[in-house]
Amino acid sequence: MNIHSVKKVSIICLLSMVFTMFAGSAAAQDGKQLFKDNCASCHKIDKKSTGPALMGAKGRWAEAGEEELIYDWINNSAALLGSGKSKRAAAIFAEYNKSAMTAFPKLTVEEIDAILEYSNTPPPPPPPTGNGDVADAGGSGSKGGVKMWLLILVVTLVIVTFAALGVRKKIAYVTAAQNGEEIDEDKSMMDKLGSWILRNWLFSVVIFVVLLFTGLADGLTRLASIGVYEDYQPSQMVAYDHSLHAGTMEIDCRYCHNSVEKSKHAGLPTTNVCMNCHAMVHETKAGTGKEEIAKLHTAAGYDADKMAYNLDKKGNVITGDPIVWNKAHNLPDHVFFSHKQHVNVGGVDCMQCHGDVKTYTLGRVSTLEEINALVDDNADLGLVKLTKPLLTMGWCIECHDKKQIEVGPTASNPYYQEIHNRLTLRPDVYKKIKEDGEITVKELGGWECAKCHY
Ligand code: HEC
Ligand code: HEC
Ligand code: HEC
Ligand code: HEC
Ligand code: HEC
Ligand code: HEC
Repeated sequence: MNIHSVKKVSIICLLSMVFTMFAGSAAAQDGKQLFKDNCASCHKIDKKSTGPALMGAKGRWAEAGEEELIYDWINNSAALLGSGKSKRAAAIFAEYNKSAMTAFPKLTVEEIDAILEYSNTPPPPPPPTGNGDVADAGGSGSKGGVKMWLLILVVTLVIVTFAALGVRKKIAYVTAAQNGEEIDEDKSMMDKLGSWILRNWLFSVVIFVVLLFTGLADGLTRLASIGVYEDYQPSQMVAYDHSLHAGTMEIDCRYCHNSVEKSKHAGLPTTNVCMNCHAMVHETKAGTGKEEIAKLHTAAGYDADKMAYNLDKKGNVITGDPIVWNKAHNLPDHVFFSHKQHVNVGGVDCMQCHGDVKTYTLGRVSTLEEINALVDDNADLGLVKLTKPLLTMGWCIECHDKKQIEVGPTASNPYYQEIHNRLTLRPDVYKKIKEDGEITVKELGGWECAKCHY
């Protein structure tokens, strides 16, 4: 084998290895990220939590002869249970006291495979010190070992390639010197690369096309997965109805979502909040809703016939299984969002982000079109029209750029009076902000990465 072909072979090997390394780590990463974003709130990999340990789940479904149904389960467990097709589903549902799992209708087979594959990687042994960062760095477990070997191989190949190049150059020198030729030492690296590409044009085109398409495909799948959470309404254990309670009866949102002005979370009501009324209300005036309200009574440990709570000997209420509400909205863990800042400080109305909840039955993620259609009819609420899908980063920052804020000595919110007072101490900044005539969230720092990312 001559030196030229050694070089060629090693470059090909090198490129394909770098490729598999990146592809491999991307898949493992996706599984981990998808698990963290969607499943980690209820599942641990190796331990029981709200749901069963996910490690080996696929194997368990395969054992039950239902390998393919695990996808249906994750897409929509309630639908699978309802269809009566799956024994495994019925068994595990009964084992976990009939607590409902969130539906994930948008997860593809590939994404589910990535999650299940990630869940089958044994967790790393606990680090000797209590340092969380160390544990995370070694997180890929046995995969880390494989990667190490690939890295060593790649480094070796790089060295071999360069050595081969060096030898070739020396030989060229020697032959040239022997033939008494001039040696063009000034030929730059770029020229050399250019002539190499010309000589190996077919090979170069193939590499270029492959790189371009993998890049494009990756970019496109990422784009497509953004904003997929619009118009999402998970099923719930109790058929609660917003249009009746918040609509017809006009109960204030804050009565049930009572931490919305005080904390990051709006909060979901406990059964006791419902029981404030439903200890007395056992059905609607039309005589419907008995079964659904009875579920509230069971959860609260309330005997509707006796109109009294079931008590044990010590006088404590014997409650049933609590009602678990499935989440409709779900921002990834790396995002910080606070209701208090938006509702209380920013004065943004619920409708701007959740749509006209008074017309919904169960809670749901609204859509951009629906909300934009509400803007003109609700002029008093100061809503803005946006163009980016709900819950994406584009949505947050577009509003931060458009939503004007009343900052001044007479601002209705004392928080903004205080900001105004501080700005007047910095005339340079104040003048710049005043130049475009309006102050938006962006100008108060609403575009700084660290404000929204941990
Ligand atoms: C709201 C809590 C919750 C979330 C979020 C959740 N699960 Fe579950 N999961 C459960 C519960 C509870 C069960 C047990 C069955 C039941 O009661 O519905 C379960 C069961 C399962 C099972 C069956 C396990 C077995 O041994 O047969 C699989 C598989 C599963 N979940 C996968 C997932 C995946 C993948 C995700 C993320 C995309 C996820 N789950 C998110 C609560 C949840
Ligand atoms: C600026 C947009 C915005 C406004 C205004 C807003 N929300 Fe939210 N809301 C969100 C986002 C984003 C989430 C998802 C939060 C998460 O997943 O961490 C959410 C989640 C929720 C949830 C689910 C539980 C929780 O706390 O995560 C409830 C309930 C809720 N909002 C009710 C309300 C009510 C009631 C109001 C009005 C008083 C309101 N929201 C105003 C954006 C908004
Ligand atoms: C302020 C009082 C009040 C509170 C709080 C309240 N409800 Fe109700 N709810 C009612 C009344 C009154 C009705 C019957 C309305 C009618 O007669 O049409 C009702 C009806 C219902 C129905 C039957 C609806 C139907 O159309 O069949 C369900 C289910 C229900 N409520 C669930 C809940 C849940 C869950 C909670 C807690 C999150 C809750 N309610 C909190 C007053 C309340
Ligand atoms: C009587 C109690 C009650 C009132 C009043 C009420 N809600 Fe809810 N809300 C609930 C319950 C219970 C859930 C969880 C079940 C569901 O999704 O419907 C919920 C869910 C939601 C969700 C979805 C949360 C998520 O991400 O899972 C939003 C958003 C929401 N409510 C907004 C509002 C707004 C806005 C108002 C006022 C217009 C309001 N709610 C009034 C009880 C109430
Ligand atoms: C409809 C408009 C709107 C949307 C959508 C919106 N915000 Fe805001 N945001 C505001 C307003 C108004 C304020 C209040 C400005 C202030 O803090 O002075 C604010 C403030 C904030 C702040 C505090 C900024 C500071 O300077 O302290 C953070 C953090 C934030 N938003 C995060 C988010 C995130 C994350 C999202 C998306 C999930 C989001 N916002 C979506 C309007 C919006
Ligand atoms: C106003 C809030 C806000 C600001 C400011 C912000 N982000 Fe984000 N970012 C978000 C939200 C919300 C998401 C989650 C979007 C989703 O799940 O689709 C996100 C997601 C991301 C992601 C993950 C992308 C993905 O596909 O999941 C990256 C990376 C990121 N942001 C980087 C940045 C950087 C860098 C900056 C500063 C230039 C920044 N962000 C500023 C709200 C913000």
